[in-house]
Amino acid sequence: MAHCLPPDHQGICIVLCGVALLLSAGLVNATDIDASSFRCITKMTPVRQFYVDNLQGNLDATLAAANSTTGAVYPTGSVIQLIPGEAMVKRDRSFNAATHDWEFFELDVSKDGTKIRKRGTTDVVNRFGGNCFDCHVPAAAQWDLVCETDHGCAPLPVTRAMIRALQRTDPRCDNPTTSPEDAELLKQLEQLLKPPR
Ligand code: HEC
Repeated sequence: MAHCLPPDHQGICIVLCGVALLLSAGLVNATDIDASSFRCITKMTPVRQFYVDNLQGNLDATLAAANSTTGAVYPTGSVIQLIPGEAMVKRDRSFNAATHDWEFFELDVSKDGTKIRKRGTTDVVNRFGGNCFDCHVPAAAQWDLVCETDHGCAPLPVTRAMIRALQRTDPRCDNPTTSPEDAELLKQLEQLLKPPR
């Protein structure tokens, strides 16, 4: 390598440091996922019934994957949420082969913001006793573990209206009042998800 270095050492340093900075910026963004990586679900970008973000500013690539009619691998940094309390985040390639590099999150959301209750790969169990990975893994290969309604996962026992009500009443958003309709839907949802006696 030395033979290609110019005699001006300062120049080398600037170039090499620049490269190192770029590399480390990429790595920090990909691995530094904490509570502040999540926000009011309806401020994210809607795609059909769910919402997306990209933690590396690569939203266009995330949207391209989400809108592909033949399926695609979501780019690193993608965040997907259907309900405020659960999220999938696409980590660096080689993060976890089984989960296709997705990390699953169970979140506690309140007026004060987001707290991460659980995070992980094949081992995250949500508050209703369901394992995220087990439910998502049946999605056909081209859908990158994203279920939606027709990718091969068993359907959720909740209605689209209930999911919309959960999205509209995310306490992190500026939504001071819950409509009577949403209150009713949330009540029905609560009944539905009660553990069987
Ligand atoms: C009982 C099975 C089940 C469990 C448990 C489960 N999911 Fe899902 N999830 C689904 C299904 C089915 C859908 C699609 C629902 C729809 O669009 O009607 C879905 C949708 C999603 C979506 C929107 C993108 C998509 O795949 O359609 C995300 C994000 C998500 N789930 C994350 C999680 C996380 C994180 C956990 C664990 C904390 C989890 N899920 C637990 C079955 C499950």
